[in-house]
Amino acid sequence: MNSVLAEWLKAHLAEPSDDPTYRRLVRLLQTSILEGRLAPGFRLPASRALAADLGIARNTAIQVYEQLQAEGYVEARTGSGTYVADTRPAKRLPTALAPARRPAGGMHRLSERGRRTIELAGVARTQWGAFMPGVPDVTEFPSHVWTRLQNRIWRHGRHELMTYAPGGGYPPLRRAIANYLRVSRGTTCAPEQIIVTTGIHQSIDLAIRLLCDVGDEVWVEDPCYWGVRNLLLSSGLNPVPIAVDAEGMNPSPRQLSRPPRLIICTPSHQYPLGCVMSLQRRRMLLEYARAHGAWIIEDDYDSEFRYGVGPLAPLQGLDQDGQVIYVSSFSKVLFPGMRVGYMVVPEAIADLCAKGIAELYREGQMMAQATLGEFIDGGHLASHIRRMRTLYQQRRDALLQAIQDTYEDRLPVLGGDAGLHLVLGLPDTADDTDVARRAEAAGIMVRALSGYYASRRAARGGLILGYACVPQARIEPSFSVLRDVIDAA
Ligand SMILES: Cc1ncc(COP(=O)(O)O)c(C=O)c1O
Repeated sequence: MNSVLAEWLKAHLAEPSDDPTYRRLVRLLQTSILEGRLAPGFRLPASRALAADLGIARNTAIQVYEQLQAEGYVEARTGSGTYVADTRPAKRLPTALAPARRPAGGMHRLSERGRRTIELAGVARTQWGAFMPGVPDVTEFPSHVWTRLQNRIWRHGRHELMTYAPGGGYPPLRRAIANYLRVSRGTTCAPEQIIVTTGIHQSIDLAIRLLCDVGDEVWVEDPCYWGVRNLLLSSGLNPVPIAVDAEGMNPSPRQLSRPPRLIICTPSHQYPLGCVMSLQRRRMLLEYARAHGAWIIEDDYDSEFRYGVGPLAPLQGLDQDGQVIYVSSFSKVLFPGMRVGYMVVPEAIADLCAKGIAELYREGQMMAQATLGEFIDGGHLASHIRRMRTLYQQRRDALLQAIQDTYEDRLPVLGGDAGLHLVLGLPDTADDTDVARRAEAAGIMVRALSGYYASRRAARGGLILGYACVPQARIEPSFSVLRDVIDAA
């Protein structure tokens, strides 16, 4: 055997490694071929000689050659031996232009849309603790009930649940959601109008892929949930920020003169300011969308938790013309990591959406969907929501009390009537981004309100405080840490 090759292989195999000899030899020979140390046409030693020189089993050597041959690195010529294959590109490729100086971090390798997605990325590294907005108390989830239901489903070994889901989701879950919406929201829809997704993010992604073209304008509330704006931008759509007042989204006459393809809003609990869209504004939006053939997505992310009166009726209930797509999920009412949400789509596009979701995402998770269906049908969702509503209301009250005890009425509080968060205004002199950064350094997570606006010029300062995942006893002490940060700003 070629002694240089044998020595080289031996030296590398002598280095400590947890990988089996077979895999290491394959990798060493592949690297040698790719880097040109073993040229095309080079005859490799016979497997018997390779085994003897390296002190390995003959079978291992044969296996190595078979693997290299299967991946195209070598070719076996009958009766003659194993040769390095010629894998150099057949055509001369044009030489690449010298790269200009580019920013570090790989951003230059992304597409324009990819860059926008990353530049706007807003997911926090920590998703738990005082006062992380949008996170429910997952420790209260009745996992014993879930486990019991799930075990029963697995025990019965329903194989049809282990393949790809039929478009739109597991039919019994679609029925359970339709029933739940009828009872809890007064929404009437057929189970076929329910499209099960992995959450509101995916619902909006599906809707914009099916209903919008690149470059289309989409009205979004200003401020709005950053995730929605980012989804639109990364899909090549054009979000148009529409100011929000006490009655919800309020387009200017100039904006009204230029109808969008789609309108995305949070009528039951504006995110993040917390106002409820007035009936007059709802009717105006519906009428406007009907007249101009625009779609409306109603994002109803947390309105099960309304303190005082019951949940408000959705905008979708007023829709006579099949223009509204209602989206919600189990992220806030159960736990976000479940990643199950749903859309209620107009009858006319229900089949198309079911086809679209199967085509775009190849849905699955039917065991989880079956468990959730039984969880809802068994009344466990409704009772969990009832229990959590009481708990969150106590936490909300404790936070309001801590704010009142500290600032009396000097700082405004918005949006405390529903949901899992409220907005605390700041003194004029304080920069909310700076306060949020300092709070994080002190161990308190808050979001700066200004970051939710399309532009800082129109932005109002404030802090978004989530109270749902903070045990009541931690609210006052955590707020006193935040108070020190605010007062030092
Ligand atoms: C207004 C709004 N819409 C949608 C979502 C995302 O929901 P999901 O977890 O269902 O994707 C959030 C998450 O916080 C939200 O605040």
